[in-house]
Amino acid sequence: MKKEFDACPSVIDESKLYGFSWMEHVMAIPSPLVVVTTYKANGMPNATMQSWCTFTGEEGYHCIFASVHKSGHMYTSLKERGCCVINFPSKDAFMKCMATIEHNGFDQDEITAAGLTAEPAGKIDAPRIRECFLNLECELEWERDLSADGAHAAMCLKIVSVLMDEMHFDEKEVGRYGESGYLYNIHSPRNPETGDVSETYVGVIKKYATYDEL
Ligand SMILES: Cc1cc2nc3c(=O)[nH]c(=O)nc-3n(C[C@H](O)[C@H](O)[C@H](O)COP(=O)(O)O)c2cc1C
Repeated sequence: MKKEFDACPSVIDESKLYGFSWMEHVMAIPSPLVVVTTYKANGMPNATMQSWCTFTGEEGYHCIFASVHKSGHMYTSLKERGCCVINFPSKDAFMKCMATIEHNGFDQDEITAAGLTAEPAGKIDAPRIRECFLNLECELEWERDLSADGAHAAMCLKIVSVLMDEMHFDEKEVGRYGESGYLYNIHSPRNPETGDVSETYVGVIKKYATYDEL
């Protein structure tokens, strides 16, 4: 039996969700875990964990970040330089990528401080993270405020160049999926009837069946 929710369930205290909607946790739809890298105005490398994003293409191929906080370095430096790299960690590099959050000073090289290696991107004016198996070099196309207070913006980036580890693009070797591939954010699912809270998990995806096999 399906149950309908059109308002925050009484068992969830929305004031304790750090600004997220109750829907975030009732649905808990997984999204890719990435790190966005830019140069700050002083030339120091910046790194920002991001997860609420999607990828698709019509004329070219684009990433849309659903909600970028305008007070952060990512937003400011993307506006200043118009470009960034989207880096995909596999599990080996993930906790170092998370550590960039603890090294968020304007004067810091956030990539090196987290124990990772910053190297210049090939086609754009941004650093990329060597330890990530996939680096997407991007140019900013547009942004749009998500709410009247203008605290967050949706941002659309056009991918202009792709750098991918050869063991990962070979599906007979490491490949892109499973425990060595793309990581997903499973953001604290909640039961809307009981209020039971699950921790936030890092997820992986595996190939299950072809369309013909289902
Ligand atoms: C898994 C994860 C996902 C995140 N996703 C976002 C996001 O989508 N938008 C955002 O504004 N901040 C997001 N953050 C928070 C930023 O990474 C964090 O505030 C960071 O310190 C901002 O860095 P900056 O000031 O260098 O941009 C996320 C953090 C984590 C751990």
